Amino acid sequence: MAEILVLFYSRKGSTAELARQVCRGVESVNGARARLRTVPQVTTVIDQPQPPVPASGPPFVTHDDLRECHGLVLGSPTRFGNMAAPLKYFLDGTSALWVNGTLAGKPAGVFTSTQTMHGGQETTLLSMMIPLLHHGMYIVGLPYTESTLSTTRSGGSPYGASHVANAVAQEGAVARLTDDERLLATLLGKRVAELAVRLSGAS
Ligand SMILES: Cc1cc2nc3c(=O)[nH]c(=O)nc-3n(C[C@H](O)[C@H](O)[C@H](O)COP(=O)(O)O)c2cc1C
Repeated sequence: MAEILVLFYSRKGSTAELARQVCRGVESVNGARARLRTVPQVTTVIDQPQPPVPASGPPFVTHDDLRECHGLVLGSPTRFGNMAAPLKYFLDGTSALWVNGTLAGKPAGVFTSTQTMHGGQETTLLSMMIPLLHHGMYIVGLPYTESTLSTTRSGGSPYGASHVANAVAQEGAVARLTDDERLLATLLGKRVAELAVRLSGAS
């Protein structure tokens, strides 16, 4: 089986909901399986150790998850037009894997959630690709042959899947993705998984 790591950070649940749709797309591919993981928050309070497992939701990612995966789909909320610090902090700790080329030659895609339509989805998605390119990954986007990409009035871009949360997102509430956002997130997972299956010969 090709193992696809769906790694996300989410504070209010929107990016988590996109991650679940990406997993659906992964699982729709014969020979592929989704592994959902998250990262801990970062804090300036250093005398309080982080819990080893999250209070709820998927487990925290480990370097073994990166070693074992055949593909990666990375998701973060947009923070000032960039990825959130907890995800960046985790990536900054992967230099040993970079030295060994652990992720080189594996496919990867990215997704994000913003508050506003023009609040920096594309800058976030593009900047999330940079560390993945340094790791030697093959970047997978979304093609305009999928007509939804041309007609969506919410999230979704050629650079990756996305969601516009607007002002309604409340902490703990389930994010309401539009049908277009859901479809494009699923398609991203499917495309990364299909390529991973082909590259790894794991069908
Ligand atoms: C520090 C901070 C910076 C943010 N920067 C942006 C931004 O640049 N553009 C935007 O549209 N939303 C921004 N937001 C809003 C989040 O991106 C948005 O609420 C997102 O849907 C949260 O995802 P989550 O539900 O997965 O936590 C910011 C939020 C915080 C806390």
